[in-house]
Amino acid sequence: MWKGRFAQETAELVQQFGESVSYDWRLYKHDIAGSIAHARAQVKAGILSQGEFDEIESGLRGIEKDIDAGKFEFRTSLEDIHMNVEAELTRRIGAAGAKLHTARSRNDQVATDTRLYCRAEIDVLAAGIGDLQDALLDRADRYAATVLPAYTHLQRGQPVTVGHHLLAYVEMLDRDLGRLADCRRRLNVSPLGSGALAGSTINLDRGAIAKELGFDGVTRNSMDAVADRDYIAEFLFAMALCGVHLSRLSEDLILWCSAEFGFVSLSDAHTTGSSLMPQKKNPDVCEITRGKTGRLLGNLVSLLTAVKGLPLTYNRDLQEDKEPLFDSIDTLKLTLAVNAEMIAAMEVREDRCRAAAGDPMLLATDLADWLVRADIPFRQAHELVGKAVAEAVRTGTPLDQLDLPSVDPAFTAAASEVFSLEKALAARSNPGAPSIDNVRAEIARRR
Ligand code: ARG
Repeated sequence: MWKGRFAQETAELVQQFGESVSYDWRLYKHDIAGSIAHARAQVKAGILSQGEFDEIESGLRGIEKDIDAGKFEFRTSLEDIHMNVEAELTRRIGAAGAKLHTARSRNDQVATDTRLYCRAEIDVLAAGIGDLQDALLDRADRYAATVLPAYTHLQRGQPVTVGHHLLAYVEMLDRDLGRLADCRRRLNVSPLGSGALAGSTINLDRGAIAKELGFDGVTRNSMDAVADRDYIAEFLFAMALCGVHLSRLSEDLILWCSAEFGFVSLSDAHTTGSSLMPQKKNPDVCEITRGKTGRLLGNLVSLLTAVKGLPLTYNRDLQEDKEPLFDSIDTLKLTLAVNAEMIAAMEVREDRCRAAAGDPMLLATDLADWLVRADIPFRQAHELVGKAVAEAVRTGTPLDQLDLPSVDPAFTAAASEVFSLEKALAARSNPGAPSIDNVRAEIARRR
């Protein structure tokens, strides 16, 4: 492509080192769509005849078909997807193909392709997040009334329901969807026409190109347009944070399916056994999810690190944006799909949840609230209940069987009315709180 300036062939090792077509081939559909839009604008600008355009378009469609069918031979000597497609086009159609690169550089071309690619993949990932939300919602519905202890510091805190706990993850995934939508909106502008870095002396209709490619507008500075990788960083961050959410869900499930908790059982189809210990049923999907989140974080850091020291505008370092991007997309897609399937098949062991939630200590805060209703300041109520708890622990008496008035006369016999899980949950009826009615209403709202 640059033989005019060079007397020597590119060294074999340099080709091997610098090629990107082994991975950026997956941009081909977007590269071809971009080229067709670009060529159409060339006709409008009078530098390409309609006949030449037709040759270019059908040539590119033919190449697309061959790539679809796995019949295209990519050549690493042609570095990347852009040059592979263009060189093959020119081989197939001759002179018209050699006109395609007028008023264009691979710098604005790759920025265009990647934006289009990210846009399409965001839509696929959003659907994957939606499917996982559906699975969580289905389980939340089934176990909307199943009481469960909720934890802080992994110590039992207060009663909730399985439904409420699962809906917490639906919320996180909502925010992930919001971040993806925000990223999509910001990235959806066309860099084509920015050229290598300073536009071109041949002015093509950038707006028409953008429109044909479904962009909302055009980039506003040619230098920024070829140097910018913010949209990839944002996308990688949105995926990394989604991964972090899935990793926390995994950690909950890993605990829950241990013999110690025993709150859920995962299906045989979504667990694995041990080659040595016959009794084992391991939550590998959860563990791999937790593990893969490390890659998602690493990919974000790779990209930010590659970009941080670069002078304007394009530098070849930017080619290193693609593998982290592709890896995060592939990783998250599969992670979402397997988790959705696993959650849909997950069963909650309601007896175990109920037994754990039956711990009267979970209602110690409710007991303090009872004192508050009898006009005791909360700090004092907290201390009195603390004393009762200490007494319960010291004597090995369950809190609900303790003679509370003997601990402090502020407690009357009526205080024991607090120890009804059903009432305790029903009382938590403020928006966002875990009463069963709230959980059911939230599920209905989402449905
Ligand atoms: N394969 C290159 C990349 O991914 C395309 C842009 C090449 N531009 C250049 N000036 N060498 O960044």
